[in-house]
Amino acid sequence: MRCSGTPTTDASPSASSGDQRGAIMLAAVFDRYGPPEVVHLAERPLPEPGPGELRVRVAATVVGRADVAGRAGSPFAARLFFGLRRPKRETLGTDFAGVVDAIGPLAPGEERRFSVGDRVHGFTGPHGGANAEFAVVSGDAPVVATPDRIDDVTAAALVEGYLTALPFVRDVGRVASGDRVLVIGAAGSVGSAAVQLAKHAGATVTGVASTPKLALVRGLGADSVVDYTIERYDDVPGAYHFVFDAVGVSSFGRMRRALAPGGVYATTAPALSVLAVLGPITRLLRGKRAAVHFTGLLPAAAKLTDLRAVTALVADGTFVPLVDRVVPFADIVEAHRRVDTGRKRGAVVVAVDRRLATTTEAQHREAGGAR
Ligand SMILES: NC(=O)c1ccc[n+]([C@@H]2O[C@H](COP(=O)([O-])OP(=O)(O)OC[C@H]3O[C@@H](n4cnc5c(N)ncnc54)[C@H](OP(=O)(O)O)[C@@H]3O)[C@@H](O)[C@H]2O)c1
Repeated sequence: MRCSGTPTTDASPSASSGDQRGAIMLAAVFDRYGPPEVVHLAERPLPEPGPGELRVRVAATVVGRADVAGRAGSPFAARLFFGLRRPKRETLGTDFAGVVDAIGPLAPGEERRFSVGDRVHGFTGPHGGANAEFAVVSGDAPVVATPDRIDDVTAAALVEGYLTALPFVRDVGRVASGDRVLVIGAAGSVGSAAVQLAKHAGATVTGVASTPKLALVRGLGADSVVDYTIERYDDVPGAYHFVFDAVGVSSFGRMRRALAPGGVYATTAPALSVLAVLGPITRLLRGKRAAVHFTGLLPAAAKLTDLRAVTALVADGTFVPLVDRVVPFADIVEAHRRVDTGRKRGAVVVAVDRRLATTTEAQHREAGGAR
């Protein structure tokens, strides 16, 4: 049986009505680490929003790299967060777009940011739970109203890439007009956002990708591209002020020569050995610096500010989030398989609302979304 999902009324102090008690929803769940097939849809009680919380009827959600690491329990470091022997939480997914469906009671004097029926998108927090028909998020979570010009697929797709890339480009690389920036993994969710953010900051951007994705990376605004399957990108001394490895395939040691004096190397996915030597070694090298950043763990307030900013820039057409494909909720295992390949272009979106058009990568490519 599927949940009725009848919208509640927006009555004070709580817009969460009792008429859905006992209702159920479908959620993508797993109870052991393993391949994509450990994930399946199951009925779960409709979650009730607690004080200050929102319940969102999810239209679109995302399966990202952190989700597949959480599902597989690999790399092992992921288990420090997801649970050492078995997963602590059964539903993955941090990114969502949908409609506010119920609002928990507010504390006296607390202001309500949303009303029932508002279109919203955002990040649940690292605990996840968005790969479901309904998700409950705290009232101060990075959640913003979805402008009319942004559809639910795009709204869900923009969250991880830009919220990850923006702190790297702005705060770690301090990318400014005239800087030369190299983005490794420029066709992925994070890399494609980084290319656009660095261009927006006025940098000259070089994107690294494989042959079939070079046109896509140019289309994002990169001034030049490097096909890593046939060319090197680490051999021109002093070439870049900021090297951003969005997919964790390089190292500071390898890229150091390509950094200009005072340049910064940053990676989203450092090897443990890199973490160990990061501070002590890097300061000695003509001011060149290596950095890693865990943007998923930034305070919700900082993410909220960033989400507002990037949403406005997506709404006005400055940024175009990449969507690899849109997979029906019933096929969420396919989404995990696709992300596992390490070859996706932008976000793999899961259409929880069956009215959303689903596309394969080939259809998306034909439509000009990803060449
Ligand atoms: N530090 C943080 O706070 C944080 C936050 C979010 C995500 N992350 C991490 O960020 C990483 C990137 O996530 P994502 O979603 O952007 O990844 P993604 O979309 O899965 O990246 C896939 C892209 O990487 C490219 N790629 C694979 N191997 C490559 C190589 N050797 N050289 C250049 N490009 C290569 C692929 O292009 P080709 O097919 O052309 O190779 C593909 O387009 C993940 O490891 C994720 O866990 C970190």
